[in-house]
Amino acid sequence: MPDSRGAEPPDTTDLDRLRSAASGCRGCPLYQDATQTVFGEGSAGAKVLVVGEQPGDKEDLAGEPFVGPAGKLLDRAFEEAGFDRRSLYVTNAVKHFKFKRDERGKRRIHQKPGRTEVVACRPWLLAELRAVRPELVLLLGATAAQSLLGPKFRLTAHRGEPLEAPEELAGLVPTAVATVHPSAVLRAPDRDEAYAGFVADLRAAAKLLG
Ligand code: URA
Repeated sequence: MPDSRGAEPPDTTDLDRLRSAASGCRGCPLYQDATQTVFGEGSAGAKVLVVGEQPGDKEDLAGEPFVGPAGKLLDRAFEEAGFDRRSLYVTNAVKHFKFKRDERGKRRIHQKPGRTEVVACRPWLLAELRAVRPELVLLLGATAAQSLLGPKFRLTAHRGEPLEAPEELAGLVPTAVATVHPSAVLRAPDRDEAYAGFVADLRAAAKLLG
């Protein structure tokens, strides 16, 4: 049975212990259909913590974040903006794949996570922030941004800007930058323009690092 109280991470900053505890999370119903929990990846010493929306089909099967098409685009954009992906901690606001089946029951089609799922999963993201203590949090897309900055946050009005976190997160999120999700770049009618804007936001974020 899902636990309606949401995720309850152990009180530790050890990423391996957190990952292992998250693998058994029943904090919302998404675990029932997903293959596995996809926890964040990267070192506890990372200066930048990157937050996506939720694992996609490929990530659900691999058990790693951003290994599918959006991840490939993200890797390329990170490189162009001067980030080395190995120096980042990469995770998602929601750690199970939410999907529906197509009419033939074969393909798994991504479904945007709802506020309830985002809130239920948020304790894992906060636990990752406590473990990594990054200098900068990079939020990819509205779901990631609203998970930390609240449901009223408007990405279109504030993308690429240095943002202050709400007071309750002040110690955990020194500075945040929000930008579009790499999947939105892949879907954009003018992909080159969307990609250039995405890289420009990442470059602006890179400049904030000491
Ligand atoms: N999209 C995300 O937001 N996260 C992933 O890990 C993959 C695709």
